[in-house]
Amino acid sequence: MHEIHLDTIDSTNVYAKLHAAEFPAGQITCITAEEQTAGRGRYQRHWVSPRGVNLLVTFYFQLPLQTLHLTSIAQVMAVSFASLLIKEELSPKIKWPNDVQLNGKKVSGVLCETSFHRSHADIFLGIGINVNMEKETLQNIDQPATSLKAETGRTWDRKSLLHKLQEQFSSDLNLFKNEGFTPFHSPFENLLAYKGEKISCFDGRKEWTGICHSLTNDGQLNLYLADHSIQVIAAGDVKNLRGSDPCQ
Ligand code: BTN
Repeated sequence: MHEIHLDTIDSTNVYAKLHAAEFPAGQITCITAEEQTAGRGRYQRHWVSPRGVNLLVTFYFQLPLQTLHLTSIAQVMAVSFASLLIKEELSPKIKWPNDVQLNGKKVSGVLCETSFHRSHADIFLGIGINVNMEKETLQNIDQPATSLKAETGRTWDRKSLLHKLQEQFSSDLNLFKNEGFTPFHSPFENLLAYKGEKISCFDGRKEWTGICHSLTNDGQLNLYLADHSIQVIAAGDVKNLRGSDPCQ
């Protein structure tokens, strides 16, 4: 793997997009930073990226346009990180499409940006992992968030964690290139947060409400609606409505 470590940068995804032409085409480039001054989340949100405590990573690679289930690569990264946590004896869940949670709180998020060319797509797959972030700092995040340290009470070696993530993701990417999302379907569905519970999901046009049911073969969300139909959601933002009236 081609590695670039930066000290301070606006965003590792932005850096990767600016420099992609300089990276070797046939392998993964892994860009990391000590801190981000303008860390980016999904839907133009800010990603809190204080210095020296977390993992701020962008994986750059190319995929052929005909890659099966190409648009589900971000979900694969969530499965890779969740698998790593399971090996560390933690019990993660994945909030569709790609947030990893511990004890119902977000520990990592994935931002995938893609640019399509004539025969391949450039993939900029960013993951932010709260590793050693302290509880006080986590409270400043605008949604329930946690870190590996907050959950386990110990300080984690970020270098070793990054190495494990690189290994896991390289191997998962090879599998994905050959078989698409299929091998990741069950691992993801088994960890799916809010399964069987009432959720709402904004898909960019409409707010859907229903029961979080399952995943399609290619990693989209099956939402079970009140009229007993299934609505397939390709992209969106899920909110749990636990505790609200299931008849509404
Ligand atoms: C989200 O959950 O909204 C996605 C967060 C993704 C954050 C990572 S940190 C490394 C990379 N660089 C960015 O600016 N964002 C991603």
